[in-house]
Amino acid sequence: MLIRRPPDIRESEVTDEGLYISRRQFIRRAAAAGAGLGLAATASPLAACGSDAGASSLAVQDDELTPYDVVTGYNNFYEFGTGKDDPAQNAHTLKTRPWAVTVEGECNKPGVYDIEDLLKRYPGEERIYRLRCVEAWSMVIPWLGFPLSDFINDLEPTSRARFVEFRTLYDPEQMPGQRRAVLDWPYVEGLRMDEAMHPLTLLSVGLYGEMLPNQNGAPIRLVVPWKYGFKSIKSIVSLRFTREMPRTSWAQQAPNEYGFYANVNPEVEHPRWSQARERRLGEFRRRETLMFNGYAEQVAHLYEGMDLRTNY
Ligand code: MTE
Repeated sequence: MLIRRPPDIRESEVTDEGLYISRRQFIRRAAAAGAGLGLAATASPLAACGSDAGASSLAVQDDELTPYDVVTGYNNFYEFGTGKDDPAQNAHTLKTRPWAVTVEGECNKPGVYDIEDLLKRYPGEERIYRLRCVEAWSMVIPWLGFPLSDFINDLEPTSRARFVEFRTLYDPEQMPGQRRAVLDWPYVEGLRMDEAMHPLTLLSVGLYGEMLPNQNGAPIRLVVPWKYGFKSIKSIVSLRFTREMPRTSWAQQAPNEYGFYANVNPEVEHPRWSQARERRLGEFRRRETLMFNGYAEQVAHLYEGMDLRTNY
């Protein structure tokens, strides 16, 4: 079975109609794409993309889905506290409706895009991706979302756009962690245009067939599976096309520890710990960390000629 859900929740109780319909569409497509590929419980990141291109090379043995309770109970979301269980406990104060994403900068279609319109315009599909945190733990998550490139194409970036900058909501009333100067709020992340346009890069609105829980970045977040988890910014309220490389939160906070690119790379150590291995949450053994988190075949060409030790 490709899709697993928490056993005690009925689908009709948790999924809004738009997503529900999209999910049914996804299941049909995935079933068609998966037939003949022998896709079962083993997660293959492209298994759900409706394409079998490269699917066999993406499949990693033992890539079992991380249990729902772990995915939604062990989080990094500093706007709700720095402990791993703080977001699950505190993120209920975040109001995810109404919600809009403001688009600015080097594009022909700047504006304010309502989340309901985005959900209607871009039907969700499921992508099973590994997420590898810079802290050397990892998960395998069935995300629901749409390619960021679909949205960007409609925004018509100009030829001057070289980067995309993303921002999380800034509202210390709703996000009490922002009352402490842990980071220079709001949380900012960025991608180079070719990274943003890569077909693996997802704007996620759900997981395990449900709307995103607040602690996982509701109502809309980024998922960039070949980069360390901190690039996957949560609860996005703005997107700006820029000529200059964005000043991202973690790179500003500790530039010697966190770079702009943050590609998963077992050969480049974090100054305080090794990045060669990781612990898959729910397991005891440690596994080898794979170059680009196992997505090298799909993304290595983006970095040809770049020194990944300098551009970490
Ligand atoms: N986005 C915001 N706004 N604030 C955060 O603290 N943490 C990042 C990333 N996105 C973070 C964020 C880090 S370090 C990780 S590992 C992932 O979210 C964790 O995503 P998850 O909790 O859904 O697993």
